[in-house]
Amino acid sequence: MNQADILNMHSPAKVNLFLAVTGLRADGFHELLSLAVPLAFGDRLGIRRLATGSADVLVCPTAGVPLDNSNLILKAAEAFRAAAGVEAFFHFELDKRIPMGAGLGGGSGNAAVALLAMNRLCGEPLKAAALAELCGRLGSDCPFFLQPRPRLMRGRGELLEAIPENACVALKQRPLLLFKPSFSVATPWAYGALRESGGRDYIDSSTASAMLGAWLRNPDFDCLPLVNNLQQPVFRKYLALPVLLERLGRRPGVRCMMSGSGSACFCCYKDPTVVDDLKADIREALGESVWIMDTNITDDA
Ligand code: C5P
Repeated sequence: MNQADILNMHSPAKVNLFLAVTGLRADGFHELLSLAVPLAFGDRLGIRRLATGSADVLVCPTAGVPLDNSNLILKAAEAFRAAAGVEAFFHFELDKRIPMGAGLGGGSGNAAVALLAMNRLCGEPLKAAALAELCGRLGSDCPFFLQPRPRLMRGRGELLEAIPENACVALKQRPLLLFKPSFSVATPWAYGALRESGGRDYIDSSTASAMLGAWLRNPDFDCLPLVNNLQQPVFRKYLALPVLLERLGRRPGVRCMMSGSGSACFCCYKDPTVVDDLKADIREALGESVWIMDTNITDDA
């Protein structure tokens, strides 16, 4: 087989540096305002078009990754065939590094990257708008990964907006330390628990816009308001997390927050020599089974 027929794609993780869930929508989803950034760290996905066959093949050696039709990659393939009107089947080889149930967008990113690759392998039958619409149907934060750069997310997460160039510069290459405890959080559970708090955990949308707007006008990374109100329900259930984040944040120049619906969290830091101490604190609190990763924000398109 010609190597050019295989696309090897980076499927980045993301974190929401700012995530304000502002209320429940009529369609059952939540309205949000978020600042999301892609990370250098991520999965790799190899994709090729099958010459024969009538089913997609998904290969992934990592235990726990679903290989059936519940996997968003296979859902993306089915949706792609229907939207593009092509009778094409694909072989996907996933090198899964992003933990699942982490709020790092791993599954969503895989689906978006798969869509981009299938479209390319079939001669681009879908234009950008059609791809974005299809991607948004697969998951609220999937469209972010079609062009992963720092972006504002609105609506249920599928409406993307560029941020000013000086804000991109303020975020560029910033190091982050990610960690995920051995337990996971299911996104529907986190949103459901927020809804069941009777509205007291929602952030007023004009307050959220004012906070983020002020930062975008004067974007200094160290002054970025780290906001995530999905922390409230998650922290009520997993008491170790707020205790640990508070402890980590006591170290000079360190700020921490949960990513998306959790359970992964991230630490921003100024002085790289603090990283070993942070890792030791995290391991002490969460045990050796904790997953830890040094990475940084990217702005690659
Ligand atoms: O869009 P996605 O399939 O990733 O969402 C998973 C679940 O998270 C939804 O079914 C919904 O329960 C919740 N959700 C939400 N509001 C959002 C995004 C997700 O309530 N904006």
